Amino acid sequence: MGRLQGKVAIITGAGRHKGLGEAIAKKFAGEGCDVVITDIGAPSGPHLSADNIGTSAEMESVAAGIREHAKGKVLTMICDVRSEDDIKRCIADTVAKLGRLDIVVNNAGIGFIMKPMMEFSIEEWDIVLDVNLRGPFLFTKHAAAQMVKQAEAGQGQGGRIINIASQAAKSASPQLVAYTSSKHGLIGLTRVCAVELGKHNITVNAVCPNHVTTGLGAKQNAFRGQVLGKDLEGVFEFRKAKIPLGRVGLADDTANACLFLASDEAAYITAEAMNVSGGEEMH
Ligand SMILES: NC(=O)c1ccc[n+]([C@@H]2O[C@H](COP(=O)([O-])OP(=O)(O)OC[C@H]3O[C@@H](n4cnc5c(N)ncnc54)[C@H](O)[C@@H]3O)[C@@H](O)[C@H]2O)c1
Repeated sequence: MGRLQGKVAIITGAGRHKGLGEAIAKKFAGEGCDVVITDIGAPSGPHLSADNIGTSAEMESVAAGIREHAKGKVLTMICDVRSEDDIKRCIADTVAKLGRLDIVVNNAGIGFIMKPMMEFSIEEWDIVLDVNLRGPFLFTKHAAAQMVKQAEAGQGQGGRIINIASQAAKSASPQLVAYTSSKHGLIGLTRVCAVELGKHNITVNAVCPNHVTTGLGAKQNAFRGQVLGKDLEGVFEFRKAKIPLGRVGLADDTANACLFLASDEAAYITAEAMNVSGGEEMH
């Protein structure tokens, strides 16, 4: 029996190879969970360009790779987390196809707009906050409604909401004003939702990874290299020097934390913001 046997999970922003969402979906599917991989699917506007997002073709490729080792079903759905209609449709389709919803991982996020705070435009601020904070709010709101409905119908085992925050939810780095603000806000959202949803046996937790070289992480490395005047190797040495465990994070480190929080072993854990940072972040 897998640790998530019989459960159904939606993971947002999981349609990119090497992304945290892909690693989480793979881990969950390997533990018997039915997994719905969702992503925006197509470029949208000046920031969500093809090199920054999971296209529907890449999402299908991610799903095909995961199906090879999955012990549960693996579906894909287009869902722009800025759209309440998309979120409602995604949850309704999941329940229609898989019968229920137990776990949501709010993983979709953007962190590639890097510039000094005084140069940040309102439009840049809004898109980061919309994806990174408004999206998880809307997803949690509608997912919780479904989980409560299941409980009232006698099919409930509560539920699990896991928000992928960041080290940027605890500490500040320069040039990331909207990202850092959104991730700090995500911890607040996590705590309020945990307090309100506890009576329904729905736990709400955040995971706070430090740097991982995903597509987004690679952009951040390139930018840090420019700011620090270092090549890629120099950026990694700079990062590693601050990490007690002496290596940068892997997508699997975050996926393992999510698996724990989604599992029965974490039934009494809620409102946490768990660092996954090799000891770099300590509060
Ligand atoms: N990589 C890191 O170092 C790191 C560290 C801490 C936290 N995180 C967080 O982890 C999460 C995943 O990031 P990643 O590093 O795997 O990057 P990634 O770019 O691989 O994944 C982010 C995903 O979000 C999706 N997305 C963007 N806008 C969307 C929208 N409007 N609707 C739906 N999906 C949308 C993208 O298509 C992409 O697939 C993000 O929330 C990020 O902030 C990453």
